[in-house]
Amino acid sequence: MTMIVTGGAGFIGSNFVYYMLDRYPDDKIICVDCLTYAGNLSTLKKALKNPNFKFYKTDICDRKAVNEIFEKEKPDAVVNFAAESHVDRSIENPEIFLKTNILGTQVMMDACRKYGNIRYHQVSTDEVYGDLPLDRPDLFFTEETPIHTSSPYSSSKAGADLLVLAYHRTYGLPVTISRCSNNYGPYHFPEKLIPLMIANALVDKPLPVYGKGENVRDWLYVEDHCKAIDLIVRKGRIGEVYNVGGHNELANIDIVKLICKELDKPESLITYVADRKGHDMRYAIDPSKIHNELGWLPETKFQDGIKKTIQWYLDNKEWWQEIINGEYQNYYAKMYGQR
Ligand code: NAD
Ligand code: DAU
Repeated sequence: MTMIVTGGAGFIGSNFVYYMLDRYPDDKIICVDCLTYAGNLSTLKKALKNPNFKFYKTDICDRKAVNEIFEKEKPDAVVNFAAESHVDRSIENPEIFLKTNILGTQVMMDACRKYGNIRYHQVSTDEVYGDLPLDRPDLFFTEETPIHTSSPYSSSKAGADLLVLAYHRTYGLPVTISRCSNNYGPYHFPEKLIPLMIANALVDKPLPVYGKGENVRDWLYVEDHCKAIDLIVRKGRIGEVYNVGGHNELANIDIVKLICKELDKPESLITYVADRKGHDMRYAIDPSKIHNELGWLPETKFQDGIKKTIQWYLDNKEWWQEIINGEYQNYYAKMYGQR
């Protein structure tokens, strides 16, 4: 099989590229990524040595360039990870989120239609369901939970999801959608909670916790997400949405305290800062559908995954230090300077 993977130079996309090259040594992986601030070619260093891997520095909104790649590579399937992915940035500047996340999705699906009704998978998020209250631990997001978004980011992802389902119903495009909870693991960009706290703690910088730190996220090790997507692409029912998550809910403050403990750093580094606007309270996935239909279950327990992840950041300081020594400093000053 030849598969186009967009956004493969980012966090989850790169983990997926490595997972697929390892698992299917005869398949071809074609990565399409325009290398925004979040994309990093050094992440794909090992993959670039593999003759079954090819990289195109291309914007998914660039219809002409995307069509040329389809003509040349003749893909059997497309998995679309490419997106603007950070909620805080979407609050500062929504426009690029609408462009990449919605229009980029349209361009990719149009190419799938044009070149032979190609199998299309959309990597979406649990954030399209909005949030759940902290005092109702019995509630979970199912695939039937209404779309009810909070941020420009989640709204753009929801817009894309609706378009994907519309392309299935209107044009018969063979699509699937996965809506996953928060991922963690190697190559996670240090603007997100876990890698940011690790990077700051290692140099004794304040650990900026939004609000009271009581917001809950449902954390999944990135490789378990990659396995779920692979299963859905191969065995999922066409036109269906699959929620992905491992019943692993943790309050932000508990994660930050755990990182302090693992790195032997004092909790006095924790600094409570102004809350995120429109901050979602709790995410929690009900993964029954993917479990019952496709037999998927998460394999990495959080206590092991977080240790592996911290160790990865200790072993790969060059990767993230290069990021935080660049343009990231302006981002950090803008987002956290006056907070
Ligand atoms: P990321 O920000 O780390 O990576 C995004 C990648 O997409 C980067 O390599 C970037 O260069 C590329 N990209 C951005 N705009 C592009 C464009 N116009 N054309 C081509 N490439 C472009 O994101 P991530 O955290 O790896 O998330 C990947 C996908 O998974 C996103 O669609 C996101 O919504 C979804 N998702 C993420 C999580 C999570 O916890 N990180 C959870 C569920 C779903
Ligand atoms: O649920 C899936 C989503 O998870 C994905 O769709 C998004 O692409 C991904 O970025 C992630 O969104 P979150 O907003 O949940 O992740 P983030 O790491 O930005 O924040 C996690 C929690 O930590 C959230 O409640 C905000 C809080 N936080 C975050 C940062 C960066 C802090 O308290 N301090 C911080 O400095």
